[in-house]
Amino acid sequence: MPVPNSKVSSLHVAPLSICLALALALGGACDAGDAGGTEGSSTTASTSDGSSGAGDTTGDVDTGDEDDVLDLPATPYDYASPELPAHFLSPPVRQLDNTPADNPITDHGATLGRVLFYDTALSRNGTVACATCHQQVHGFSDPTQFSEGFEGGLTGRNSMALAESRWYATGRFFWDERAATLEEQVLGPIQNEVEMGLTLTELVERVEERAYYRELFVAAFGDDAVTTDRIARALAQFVRAMASYRSRYDVGLAQAGSIRAEFANFTAEENLGKQLFLQPRTSCVACHLGGPPPPPPPNGDFANQAIFLPLEPLNNGLDAGPVEDDNGVGDVSGDPADDGRFKSSSLRNIAVTGPYMHDGRFATLEEVIDHYDSGVQPHPNLDPRLRGPDQQPRRMNLTPAEKSALVAFLGTLTDEALLTDPKFSDPFVR
Ligand code: HEC
Ligand code: HEC
Repeated sequence: MPVPNSKVSSLHVAPLSICLALALALGGACDAGDAGGTEGSSTTASTSDGSSGAGDTTGDVDTGDEDDVLDLPATPYDYASPELPAHFLSPPVRQLDNTPADNPITDHGATLGRVLFYDTALSRNGTVACATCHQQVHGFSDPTQFSEGFEGGLTGRNSMALAESRWYATGRFFWDERAATLEEQVLGPIQNEVEMGLTLTELVERVEERAYYRELFVAAFGDDAVTTDRIARALAQFVRAMASYRSRYDVGLAQAGSIRAEFANFTAEENLGKQLFLQPRTSCVACHLGGPPPPPPPNGDFANQAIFLPLEPLNNGLDAGPVEDDNGVGDVSGDPADDGRFKSSSLRNIAVTGPYMHDGRFATLEEVIDHYDSGVQPHPNLDPRLRGPDQQPRRMNLTPAEKSALVAFLGTLTDEALLTDPKFSDPFVR
């Protein structure tokens, strides 16, 4: 059901921007933005104040050769076959992979996607790229509660961290899952009137105008034809390539062989936090390490020990009953049984992706733990895993030391290698 409800349609979907409407009325008042793409966007702010510029044209824009504008390796980075550890290769984890047969990750495709991801020419006035709201050092999310779009308007929800997007079996995207595929999702922000503000026709023109894209399209797709479909495929490949598998958790797991075992590279506090994460008392694992349940201990182990994502949108008790402005999946499906159900981002890199939840209501992980410990609200759709035997919200009664231990464990999921990997960094010479 790719039909978004009107309430959420301002997020990532409305194709015709106010600016465009004005441009039609006033004769090109929006064209100032085009100058912002000079040199693939470096120092764009100086050439586009976004307010004047009626009659400006882009005739003198130097769109640059690839070498002037971009710093790319002669041989593309390896995106297609990262050396994933064994815990990513089990059949249940492979089954989570949403890569479509007709858009596998290729090194050249993801390279094109990387350039598009960092190109501010993809926003109306040349000020915003995907990477503005999905910052590598922050696990490809935004440290502000709501993100600023190209004209300073704010998004309606907190930006989502993008690592492990590939391993979400429904293949649907956004907090409310309104995008049916990643290929569909990536065109949303470009057309969104708050975020980037282009029509798809303008998008294709922008990319065609920039000489540095020609070679990249040829390498990725065999010729230099620019289409929205190819742009979507390349962006989706780059996002799917953002695999997080090099954290201290991964090192410890590879040594110990099971998430249940003590990890030699963890502190006592981190090991305690890991045990708490696995216990029915918190049931964190039951939602955030989605997969088939383990057979009973002592021998049973979790089939998925790699992807810290729930399998589907759930209600984790943030609010008591439906709220006025955002009921997540319920607003998209129109079914009250979906109210308050949201997709979660992966817990990978969670220490650096705050603030937390779809509305960024919690600034710190301590606040998140306090929510689960004693703040869960009695929503009719509250997930059973957060209810007690009386069906009321469960209280975990965690001690301060246990709360700190959970936060410490979550910190072991930070993947410095991903957060600093040049293959995911800004390729523009700015
Ligand atoms: C102005 C800020 C902003 C920009 C620019 C932006 N995003 Fe986002 N992104 C967000 C927000 C906010 C959300 C969550 C929106 C929602 O769920 O309603 C999001 C969600 C996503 C998701 C969904 C992740 C998931 O797990 O479901 C993906 C993928 C994504 N963005 C990729 C991109 C790409 C690719 C671009 C560039 C073409 C981009 N974004 C540009 C703010 C932004
Ligand atoms: C019933 C399933 C469920 C359980 C149990 C659960 N969570 Fe969550 N968690 C979710 C959902 C769903 C979200 C996203 C909710 C939203 O934003 O509306 C979420 C969000 C989060 C986030 C914020 C993610 C982000 O990117 O903003 C953190 C951190 C988190 N949970 C940690 C935990 C920890 C730690 C535990 C155990 C104490 C736990 N969760 C137990 C379902 C669950």
